[in-house]
This record gives sequence, structure tokens and C-alpha cells, in this order.
Amino acid sequence: MRDFTYENPTKIVFGRGAELAAGAEAARLAKKVLLHYGGGSVKRSGLLDRIRGSLEEAGLTAVELGGVQPNPRLSLVEEGIALCRRESAGLILAVGGGSVIDSAKGIALGVPYDGPVWNFYDETAVPEKALPVGVVLTIPAAGSETSPTSVVTNEKGWYKRSYKGTILRPRFALLNPELTFSLPADQTRYGAMDMLAHVLERYFTNDRDVELTDRLCEATMKTILANLPRALAKPDDYAARAELMWSATNAHSGILDTGRLGDWGSHKIEHELSAIYDVPHGAGLAAVFPAWMRFVLSHDVPRFAQFAHRVMDADMNPFDLEDTALEGIRRLEAWIRACGLPLTLTELGVPTDRLEEMAAKAVEKGPVGAFVPLGKDEVLAILNALR
Ligand code: NZQ
Ligand code: ZN
Repeated sequence: MRDFTYENPTKIVFGRGAELAAGAEAARLAKKVLLHYGGGSVKRSGLLDRIRGSLEEAGLTAVELGGVQPNPRLSLVEEGIALCRRESAGLILAVGGGSVIDSAKGIALGVPYDGPVWNFYDETAVPEKALPVGVVLTIPAAGSETSPTSVVTNEKGWYKRSYKGTILRPRFALLNPELTFSLPADQTRYGAMDMLAHVLERYFTNDRDVELTDRLCEATMKTILANLPRALAKPDDYAARAELMWSATNAHSGILDTGRLGDWGSHKIEHELSAIYDVPHGAGLAAVFPAWMRFVLSHDVPRFAQFAHRVMDADMNPFDLEDTALEGIRRLEAWIRACGLPLTLTELGVPTDRLEEMAAKAVEKGPVGAFVPLGKDEVLAILNALR
């Protein structure tokens, strides 16, 4: 097991009505709030009105910036930075999913910084401070509600890049599973695939003697695999929604990769798909992950066999571990298919004429992945396997 420092200061309030704590939690951090949200689901559901009421009750004033789109754009982050400065807002309250939270984090980074905020995503500057961010989560998926990461797309060149730093972990996250009853089935699927991928990225490690985190990863994956079909069959199944919501947070809080180094190659490859073609992140991962698994299988067959046996319930064949490992991947693909998720570029609506460009962009800052570092040719081979 590796040495590690784990710091996660996000206060979590979980359960029915959790969003009503927004005013009290925000009041601890600021007098004026930037209320940040997406394309309209929070207005239609009445959630935004409840949050406004809660802030007002706590004696806070708010300015608002909606319109965050999935795969959030740099231009809106810049608009938010200017608005926050003009209005002297001291806290950004993200009401939505990963895209809204990541956009809020981008604003939080940019307000106290003199230069272009993209410098942080482009790795040409390191931030010293950021405004605090609070979250009311409406979709379990990205795990951004406690993660130290913000992923933003720069429309100039269609680069989707991330910045990761502890200062970005939200100060509080309000998690009410009932808020996710209204999710369209596709968003429920994409979200579950993303959280599953967050665990898979961590599970495939070269580190040894990581039994506790292996077992925690396996429990989280089994919970996701069992509860997505339940939530799809009955969207207002509170128990299933609650399991998914708590799994999403745990999948990406960082606890599952304590003492081990994960891979993250599949995420880097997927980000190229969603940057250029605006595919939902979870949909892209559904296609990329099994192809990545097949490509790197020979690197550590016993680990893939362990995944097959412990997570996908495949029989362990001690005389042919590769056979067991392949059965695990087949079972994962069958689950992806049964849940209505895509496995090919065609199903994603992605044409094949820019694969080379995507592979080149993925490795611009060096090989992707830590379990198996991949160069341009390997990334291209994985993308080609999705045809
Ligand atoms: O915009 P509105 O109208 O709110 O609709 C949203 C959006 O269209 C809708 N939605 C959300 N909650 C809803 C709802 N519709 C009905 N009822 C509700 N309760 O869902 C759509 C997708 O929302 P989005 O925020 O994009 O989803 P998600 O949470 O999957 O976030 C995806 C983004 O997070 C990034 C991804 O790359 C992608 O840009 N990631 C962020 C990470 C992080 N910060 O740590 C890690 C992840 O690996 C990921 O890369
Ligand atoms: Zn992800």
C-alpha cells in the first residue's frame, strides 16, 4: 500500500429535504451567493424556488447565472467570474449535476485570479485560492459534489480539460435522492456508468496489498450494478435512488484510491469524444471502458479474473484465468447492453473520420493511464475497436 494524505472537508447532508439546509449552510460562508444552475430542470421541478426561499430565510442575497450545458463551457465560466466580481458574491452555490458543479468550481478558481482561468486547466498556472463552493446535487454521476476536480470545455479548439486541487472540494453537499426521481432514463444510465467507471479506474492498479480498497471498490461496483436496473424500472424507487446517489459520491470522493494509484486512461480517451462530439460523458465511458479492458487485459490477467469473479459473479477457473477474465468483460458488456447503454461509435452517433485527431489530442501532455500508459497508437487502437 502507498503512503497517502486524504483530506475531504465536504460536509454532507443526505436524505429527504436535504436541500432545505442550503440557507443555513451558505450563511456560514458568505452574505451574498451566486446561484448557478443548468438548462431548466431545476426551474421545472420547483427546486430553484425552494433554494431561493431557503437563502432568503437565512438572510442571504443572491445573484443568479443559469444556462450551464452538459460538458460545461469556458465562456460561461468567464461570464460567472465577471458577475461574481461585479456583485461581490462570496460563495457559489451549484444546483445541478457535474456540469453545473464543475462550472461553479471554474468560477471559484477564476474570481481571485488575475489571469485567464484556463491557465489552470492548461497546467500553465497553479491556483493559490478559490471562492467556496456549495452543492445541491440533482444527478448522481460525476461525484463532483465532493471531488477536488473541475472539468471544463474550451470552445477554442474544443479542448476538454480538468484541474484537480484540494481547494476545489465543495464545502457542503446536500444530497436528496428524491430530487433524482425526475431524471430522464438516459441521464440515470449515463450517471450510473460514470460512477461505475470511477471505481473501475481505481480498481485497475499496479499497487499490491490494497485489500481494503479492493473490497470497498467491489462493494461499490456491485451496488451500482444492482441498483441501476431497479431505478430504471421504477424511477421513484427511493431505496434504489439513494443507493445510487451515495455510491456516486463514494466512488469519487477519493477514499477508494487511498494507498493506490488508479489508471484514468479511459476517462482521458472519453473526454476527447465528449469534447468534439458533445456525447454525454457516461455514454462515452460505456463504450470506451470494455474496449480498454480488452486492450490491456494481458497486463494483469489475475486482476481481471478477480474482477470477473468478485464483481461480475463469474466462476473462477484457476486453470484458465484469462477465460475467467474474459467472461467478466463479457458480463460487463451484457450489463451495459441490458441497461440500454451504447457500446459502439455508431450507437454514440460519432463518425470515424476524426479518430486520429482525438488520439493525438489525448496524448498531447504525454501517455494516458497509469495502470498501462498508452501512447497515440494504442489510444487509436482502442478508438478503432469501437467501430
Ligand atoms: O441542465 P438541466 O436542465 O438541469 O438538465 C440536466 C442535464 O441536461 C439533467 N438533469 C440533472 N439533474 C436532473 C436533470 N434532469 C431532470 N431531473 C434532474 N434531477 O441532466 C443532464 C446532465 O447533467 P450533467 O450535470 O451534465 O451530468 P453529470 O453529473 O453526469 O456531469 C457530467 C459532467 O461532469 C464531468 C463530465 O466530464 C461532464 O462534463 N465530470 C466531472 C468530474 C469531477 N468534477 O470530478 C469527474 C467525472 O469523471 C466527469 O468527468
Ligand atoms: Zn467520470
